Amino acid sequence: MANGEMDEFVERVRSQSDILSVVSRYVPLKKKGNNYWGCCPFHQEKTPSFSVAPSKGFFYCFGCHAGGDSFKFLSLIENISYFEAIKLQAERLHIPMPQRQKSPQEIERDRRIADLRKVNSMARDFFHNCLTMTHYGEAGKAYLASRGISQETIEEFQMGFAPDAWDKLTRAFLKRGVTMELLLEAGLVSQGKDSSNIYDRFRNRVIIPIADERGRVVGFGGRVLDDGTPKYLNTPETILFNKRRLLFGLDKSGRAIQQAGHAIVVEGYMDAISVYGAGVRNVVASLGTAFTAEHCRKLLRYTSRVCFCYDSDEAGQAATVRAFSVARDAGVEVRVIVIPEGKDPDEYIRKHGAKAFEALVQKAIPLVEYRMQYVLKHTAYDTLEGKVKALHEILPVLRGIRDAAELAEYRKKLARILMLDEGVILSEMRNGAGVPEPQAHSGRSGRRSAARSQDNALKRAGRIVIRMACRDASVLAHIRGMLPLEGIYDAAHHEILAFLFAQQEQGKTFDDAAAAEILGDEAMAELSRSLVENLEGREETEAYHDSVNILRRAYLNARFMQHSRQAEEYLQSGNPAYRDELAEVKKIKEEMDELQVSDTERRS
Ligand code: UTP
Ligand code: MN
Repeated sequence: MANGEMDEFVERVRSQSDILSVVSRYVPLKKKGNNYWGCCPFHQEKTPSFSVAPSKGFFYCFGCHAGGDSFKFLSLIENISYFEAIKLQAERLHIPMPQRQKSPQEIERDRRIADLRKVNSMARDFFHNCLTMTHYGEAGKAYLASRGISQETIEEFQMGFAPDAWDKLTRAFLKRGVTMELLLEAGLVSQGKDSSNIYDRFRNRVIIPIADERGRVVGFGGRVLDDGTPKYLNTPETILFNKRRLLFGLDKSGRAIQQAGHAIVVEGYMDAISVYGAGVRNVVASLGTAFTAEHCRKLLRYTSRVCFCYDSDEAGQAATVRAFSVARDAGVEVRVIVIPEGKDPDEYIRKHGAKAFEALVQKAIPLVEYRMQYVLKHTAYDTLEGKVKALHEILPVLRGIRDAAELAEYRKKLARILMLDEGVILSEMRNGAGVPEPQAHSGRSGRRSAARSQDNALKRAGRIVIRMACRDASVLAHIRGMLPLEGIYDAAHHEILAFLFAQQEQGKTFDDAAAAEILGDEAMAELSRSLVENLEGREETEAYHDSVNILRRAYLNARFMQHSRQAEEYLQSGNPAYRDELAEVKKIKEEMDELQVSDTERRS
């Protein structure tokens, strides 16, 4: 195909595309002046700032500044490339694409794909007929009825049954001229160790045809009728069937997803069938627990909001949490439908009915919330140690929140639940090594280093000392020897250490409940922070000794100044006590020098 032909094609599609009808398919528009207005589909808004100028063939949003021509609009809203948008629009306008000469390999591949599609759709009909029209299907019918699956749902999903025999399908298909090679490639027959031993892959199982988003059968799932294993047998990977890319049900639910504004993702195709059967049609199933980036991209063509409704067991919960990073990277908003009772949505619907399930969908919670609940459920956070652990597990989720107001809200909430100071959470978020902060605009490192330098060395040292003191009574004794209370100049640190010393005098070990009762708000916040703060990989005892030295030196400095001033005063007024003062100054100076030396010694 010549370049000119392609240009001509694009030009033809462009000239026949009317931006008003392209956009109206997705966004309701109202005329005002020369332009049309609506709520922007690319950002959240309540008053329309999205405009279309039909005479110019352009759209523009005054809120988020998205703009361009019809193809740009399509590429944004369908999450496809500009060229794919042209092709999509051509398809909609029934304008044929100029054909390129195909290589023999491409022709061969196309032929294989066409053959596979054909044999798959033959197999779907075969299984469906076995279920609905032959006596072989009775066991399957009884099984489906026992699960409450209606005749209508069986038809809708073209469910079927594989007879309890070794070669029913093989024989029927060979008779109809299908080659053994194709049956093998489609995964419809299996080969034993002895390659002449060939038999139907699916036997005595209920069959669920698996279709791609355009409704073409690409594989099958077969479920046993009892507790046999494997519970499900699936078509092996073929050039058509790729589990990581396929979302079961998307061919039927695409429109409903657009209408509802979100997709419900469940774990198994039986769940999807059950949910769909209950009248909730915006549902798809990932085949198994893993939700992949490819799944995410597929869904983005229909919506940017996803509700996970995985099994309520540990595996399902863990999978939900894992789906978080996939969804975040794709910019998808995630909620979770929590099933309070029963293993999965199917069981819940069977027990409580469709209405109850719809109510659960309404109550879906944001993933951050879910993650918080999950961590809090799995961590005993009644001790400070537990709080720290819980906080560190939730931090990655908080860091994933891009909206500043939302983030602030969650920070507050978390602070309240963990009974930690919000400042602690804030500073911990900043400290996360290598993890991007929310609103990761330029100037981020500047903000971070500013935050760091504010945090002066004395405060930091104080917190390290306090942290160690809470943990170990012998450390507390050491601190008492090194740092008299009057030498602690930070009010909050002074209050904390006074409390710790008093506790020790009463023979008590550190107890955060008592601390919460006795300490003031500021001191309590500072105590939490001391316990939570991370030492950035430094050896704790080393950090402790450095910190004690830093504080001790500050104390000595202050005393040095104080006695020097006093000596000066006495000298001027002729008071002989100046000698004692000078002796004191000398002593202090010696200790300061010593401290300097030992400090350098430890470092070398
Ligand atoms: P589940 O074990 O949760 O199945 O597996 P389920 O949907 O609750 O099944 P029922 O209700 O007992 O019939 C979820 C998904 O994991 C895959 C299938 O895709 C299934 O839909 N799976 C599970 C298999 O592929 N093979 C298996 O043996 C089990
Ligand atoms: Mn189930």
